[in-house]
Amino acid sequence: MRIETEADVTTAVLEAMSRTPDPRVRHVTQALVRHLHAFVREIRPSEQEFEQGLEFLARIGQAMSPTHNEAVLASDVLGISTLVCLLNNGDGGATETAAALLGPFWRDNSPKTEDGGSLIRGETRGPRLMAQCRVLAGGAPVADARVDVWHSSIEGFYENQVEGAPEMNLRGQFRTNAEGRFSFFTALPAGYPIPTHGPSGDLLRAQLRHPMRPAHLHFIIHKEGFKTLVTQVFIDSDPHLDSDVVFGVTSALIGDYRRSEEPAPDGSGEDFYQLDYAFHLEPGEARLPLPPIA
Ligand code: BEZ
Ligand code: FE
Repeated sequence: MRIETEADVTTAVLEAMSRTPDPRVRHVTQALVRHLHAFVREIRPSEQEFEQGLEFLARIGQAMSPTHNEAVLASDVLGISTLVCLLNNGDGGATETAAALLGPFWRDNSPKTEDGGSLIRGETRGPRLMAQCRVLAGGAPVADARVDVWHSSIEGFYENQVEGAPEMNLRGQFRTNAEGRFSFFTALPAGYPIPTHGPSGDLLRAQLRHPMRPAHLHFIIHKEGFKTLVTQVFIDSDPHLDSDVVFGVTSALIGDYRRSEEPAPDGSGEDFYQLDYAFHLEPGEARLPLPPIA
């Protein structure tokens, strides 16, 4: 069709896309155009602002590397990752779910670790933690599930962020036993600022937002016949539980991390904490996420 006024553009683009054979691709791309055009009409960007917007998108791509995923970060700070997570878990967002966003730091192929084994793979400071966990579905134990665990150090960094850190420190892969249990020993994580050197950091600064995540452990629980559970368990005393920069905290995900009177069993002389936590799987498809970094 011939374009005469701004109002014609949306009709013309939707019409041009209307023959897309794949119905899902047609729906997604037409909805994208409808919403993007409505957004542009609402904010009426100047041409200079339009250039700045495109530059922002380009900088997300330019900041990507095998060890840094700026695209995940940007969708996290915009709340999109959490929205997608909640829409896909807990009956489409209607009920509380045990799921939380993946974040940019999961690495596949972390060391297979025996039940009760340690995630400390080299010199690591900070209080120690013994986590005793159970995986259930409909109240029944889920045996032989693959469980990935990863978390930050007490300095607030993942091992891939620190030059010279022990490879795969504070990461490991477990299997649940016949009772659906797995346990591991590690060093307590701290809250941390997400990486702010890229465009996502510029956005936070422009909005006067802090970059902090409350301290947490990450988990992926994968077992054929169930929806793969991607989640986090937060430390109950953290000051940022209600202002997580990526909106990941729900009440069900706050763990009861108890300080023990006993010394840490590894002879480190550090304080010792214990966590008991049960994960609940939902029916659905088992599918591991794409690793955000190598
Ligand atoms: C994380 O929990 O690892 C994370 C999530 C979102 C942004 C940055 C880090
Ligand atoms: Fe994290």
